[in-house]
Amino acid sequence: MNTIITGLQWGDEGKGKIVDYLTESADVVVRGQGGNNAGHTVIANGTKYVLHLLPSGILWDNKINVIGNGVVCDPIGLVEEIARIESQGIAITPDKLLISDRSHVVFPFHKELDAAREASLGDQKIGTTKRGIGPTYSDKINRCGLRMADLLDREFTTQQVTRRVSEANEVLSRHGLTTFQAAEVIEQVYTAFERLRPHITNTIPVLHKAWKANKNLLFEGAQGTLLDIDYGTYPFVTSSNTTAGGSCTGTGLPPTAIQAVIGVCKAYTTRVGSGPFPTGDEPLSEYLHGLGREFGATTGRPRGCGWLDTVLLRFACMVNGVTGLAVTNLDGLDAYATLQICTSYEIDGVIHELPPADRSAWERAKPVYESLPGWQSDTTACTSYEALPAQAKAYLKRLSELCDAPLAFVGVGPDRIQTLVVP
Ligand code: GDP
Ligand code: IMO
Ligand code: MG
Repeated sequence: MNTIITGLQWGDEGKGKIVDYLTESADVVVRGQGGNNAGHTVIANGTKYVLHLLPSGILWDNKINVIGNGVVCDPIGLVEEIARIESQGIAITPDKLLISDRSHVVFPFHKELDAAREASLGDQKIGTTKRGIGPTYSDKINRCGLRMADLLDREFTTQQVTRRVSEANEVLSRHGLTTFQAAEVIEQVYTAFERLRPHITNTIPVLHKAWKANKNLLFEGAQGTLLDIDYGTYPFVTSSNTTAGGSCTGTGLPPTAIQAVIGVCKAYTTRVGSGPFPTGDEPLSEYLHGLGREFGATTGRPRGCGWLDTVLLRFACMVNGVTGLAVTNLDGLDAYATLQICTSYEIDGVIHELPPADRSAWERAKPVYESLPGWQSDTTACTSYEALPAQAKAYLKRLSELCDAPLAFVGVGPDRIQTLVVP
């Protein structure tokens, strides 16, 4: 069974936790898009791990983890991440981590260009993670990027980087930001590249071999559907296809290799960065922040929080072809007496069951809510779906009906073991 795990909201749905949980019965875990803008949290055996470029399967022994061709890879960031995870007692050997030779390289100047672009947008800024994601994907699409395989040819890389650095410096100096010396950039990137070199390979035949040998493959999505470059709240999105299709183009495995798509969502909605958020709710945000929850794993920024939005989820289930829902953070709603679910948007007096494309319509979208009773009891110790309070099961059933997708998993806490299988 080959399964895509994809985010159905604006990221941070708990994908890392679900991937980690499913890795036990998988052989290969592969990332196909995004970069270290992702922050995937896993809590296992009392230890918290935060993963940015490393697939979440890395915490298990005897599993192959692949950074696929569609990922933009920051070599310096990845080396730091490997060192951090190794310091937590996880060995990361070349047989356990493979990096695609087609993966595009994030250079330090990409990160600074990301910051420059944000500064130039002023109050229209996207609120990026400043990890250089947009500029690196722009170079890829503009056919002037460098891939891991290109770094094998140092002379070629030096030529290209020298040209790109001088172009970048022009922009950066206009914004009063740090400019770069090509020789220093090359030195820094090559120091990291040498550490990564044993892991870099043509990952496509490796993945195909595993597929043909009937191994179980897990595709770990990053970000979420509403951050997808095509389906998201454009322009307040990331620069890759975060939806299920990106798992194929980003790994070299065809759609015919996939049997299941698990869509991950929270029992409520969160968003970090700028852009529309119709169900955003200040009291719910304050309440969840007060519990120490909903701070970004990558940037530490507080996430805006709001009620469950099934307009978004319905659309996300459609475009991803979700075969099972994983609803995380149910326990976040434990104390509330009355819960709201947004079932549609009213825009200029017209009811919409799917999100609009027009950016100005988002601003006028008023959520239409239905109220459900809360369960007002602690779910974090529940060890089976049956043990959940009746109102919690009713809430989940309604969520599933409104999205037209079956429930598969429910999260009642951040720990690996706080994942319930829905019978
Ligand atoms: P990802 O980017 O989709 O992997 O999600 P993040 O790790 O960025 O954010 C999800 C947050 O929710 C993390 O702090 C997780 O530890 C936490 N989490 C995931 N599932 C649950 C759950 O069911 N209950 C609780 N309380 N926390 C959860
Ligand atoms: P995971 O995989 C939440 C958001 C940023 C910003 C927008 C563009 O942990 O769910 P970028 O740096 O990609 O150019 O930023 O996308 N964003 C995320 N939000 N979770 C993520 O990843 C995100 N990755 C990017 O906050 O709004
Ligand atoms: Mg995250």
